[in-house]
Amino acid sequence: MAHASRGRFISFEGVDGAGKSTHIPWLAERLRAAGHEVIVTREPGGTPLPEKLRALLLAEAMDPLTETLLMFAARAEHVRKVILPALQRGAWVICDRFTDATRAYQGTGKGVAEELIGVLEKAVHPGLQPDLTLVFDCAYEVSRERLAGARRALDRFEREDRAFFDRVRGAYAALAKADPARMRVIDGSKPREEIKKILEDIIITY
Ligand SMILES: Nc1ncnc2c1ncn2[C@@H]1O[C@H](COP(=O)(O)OP(=O)(O)OP(=O)(O)O)[C@@H](O)[C@H]1O
Ligand SMILES: [Mg+2]
Repeated sequence: MAHASRGRFISFEGVDGAGKSTHIPWLAERLRAAGHEVIVTREPGGTPLPEKLRALLLAEAMDPLTETLLMFAARAEHVRKVILPALQRGAWVICDRFTDATRAYQGTGKGVAEELIGVLEKAVHPGLQPDLTLVFDCAYEVSRERLAGARRALDRFEREDRAFFDRVRGAYAALAKADPARMRVIDGSKPREEIKKILEDIIITY
């Protein structure tokens, strides 16, 4: 793999239930086997304070602006305490959601101004973008069926209606179309083994 001495930042994105959490451990092991130090983390979250904010964000009803500011507050801690130090020592960072999720969920999903998200992004992680973003996509029906099969209580975002899901899904498609060099859309409705092959192909050429 090229540039083995430099850390890489890989984010997993996409609608609820599309398969992010399922495939992250596999990719982490795959990269460790190639000799990289790999950190797996998630947003909102990643250290004790952002994990406390996560618990609030997933459970408490709040204004979309409050939600956006808390997401970026959590991200400020996470970027400074975890992501940047790891990248600086040459580790690869795999993150379950990052700022694309704020654009899709709070921006397109809930109507928070794109300009504001852009300003917060520049303040919170100037110059830092994922090197690669894997956008897991699936239809509403697939997502609902999987979340029902998971047999756990749905969080505040997963309880949103179909129109919200479709706005978020459309937002991810538009983001990926606008930045094809960074973002790759993965059809999350395919069988797990097929998805692993697709990820393998992306990582090998990366
Ligand atoms: N390719 C697949 N085929 C069949 N089932 C899958 C596939 N990928 C994931 N699943 C199942 O679907 C459910 C949701 O997957 P997962 O938790 O990975 O989604 P996610 O994208 O992390 O969702 P969330 O955004 O809610 O965290 C899990 O029960 C998982 O086992
Ligand atoms: Mg998940």
